[in-house]
Amino acid sequence: MLSKDDNELLTRTGPDTPMGKLMRRYWLPAIFSDDLREADGPQVRIRILGEDLIAFRDSSGAVGLLGAHCPHRGVSLYFGRNEGYGLRCPYHGWKFDVTGRCVDMPNEVPGSRLQENLRHTAYPCVERGGLIWTYMGGGAPPPLPNFEWLDLPQTHRHLSMRVQECNWLQALEGEIDSSHAPILHGRVDGRGHGPDTLIGMNDKHPRFEVIETDGGVQIGARRDAGDDYYWRVNQFLMPFWTIVPPGGGGEPDINGHAWVPIDDEHTLCVMYSYHPDRAISERRLKLFNEGARGREPGHMTVNGALPFDPTKPYGKYWPKWNRSNDYGLDWEVHRSRYFLGTAGLWPQDGACQESMGLVSNRTQEHLCSSDIGIGRVRRLLRSAVTALRDSGEAPASVHDPDVYRVRAICIVLPKEVPWLEGIAPHLTASGPIAYEIPGPNSSS
Ligand code: FES
Ligand SMILES: [Fe+2]
Repeated sequence: MLSKDDNELLTRTGPDTPMGKLMRRYWLPAIFSDDLREADGPQVRIRILGEDLIAFRDSSGAVGLLGAHCPHRGVSLYFGRNEGYGLRCPYHGWKFDVTGRCVDMPNEVPGSRLQENLRHTAYPCVERGGLIWTYMGGGAPPPLPNFEWLDLPQTHRHLSMRVQECNWLQALEGEIDSSHAPILHGRVDGRGHGPDTLIGMNDKHPRFEVIETDGGVQIGARRDAGDDYYWRVNQFLMPFWTIVPPGGGGEPDINGHAWVPIDDEHTLCVMYSYHPDRAISERRLKLFNEGARGREPGHMTVNGALPFDPTKPYGKYWPKWNRSNDYGLDWEVHRSRYFLGTAGLWPQDGACQESMGLVSNRTQEHLCSSDIGIGRVRRLLRSAVTALRDSGEAPASVHDPDVYRVRAICIVLPKEVPWLEGIAPHLTASGPIAYEIPGPNSSS
């Protein structure tokens, strides 16, 4: 449970809020490179941390991210002309380059100093890992986070985006709370479970161990597996990143999310899946892109999105299964097949997280022992926000990109081995991924 004040402190991300200022110290994934394919092509609307922005690719191929409203009299630059190394407002022709400099002001008298003194809101962008990243903090940007998937060939990773209609923190908390997975994502007909899910279903109350790391919080969930313990270790990384242990049966890949605030009532869920030393298989890609038997996987598929609505920010990424249709809930499926009979996996998460309200009221909750990771992440966020607000001190993760070079793992360890010792060789991003599940002789 949080006080009303702390709930406000952690959930509000606009420009003048303490959490908004903390988030602006980090590079933020803004949009896919593929959404701005051509130089001088159409611009797109996005919104990050409550700021409406227009993204465009100029004549040189550089990406610009400008405040959406022209500084002259506020017309939307979405209607502008992307031409000659800049974006030109359609109303009176003022033109801005990717740095926000006004490079033409055709309706102003010659000799006026207005043009040279004007700077429009413009955030620096870089492209890496198929994403356009932006830094909204002003001043010199820190290094990009050194996630291992950013260095991999494109064939080794898959990324997707989805807009969720709720505050970023409850979306993030949904992935820190791993005890929900075998319940919410389980089945009631006993079919179709991989061995890792079965272990979770047989032991629904794992013991949690949580430690703070240089980059965030590491959460270990321990389940009994005969003579051994089965550990699933998740990572939370500042300010909104998660990494979850490998899944995927015979073709395990590592997954995670950035839970980027669009504004305080919408979250951009950027999901990544990757394998460090081989391409993602055709079978997995088909699942990510198309789902299976009409159901959505963790990634939003081409079937799960509404038709592109360019009038909205992130207009390609609004889900078809949403609050307006109860996420595709089918009562017969709910009764006889899945624990929650929505149109697949992310609609199960979306239904739960959005049904908490646009901004969850944490003054009313009753946390239990499996929420220990959530509690620790809130404490870390709170201390980071207040340190920046009260003494101008930014977390070390802002300046140390290598804290992001970690993995989530699942592993079987003898009961006498301390978990931190047992997982240590597998945590840094090198070598094969740790994907171990208890053998058939383990009882649980
Ligand atoms: S409103 Fe944009 S140039 Fe006038
Ligand atoms: Fe989930």
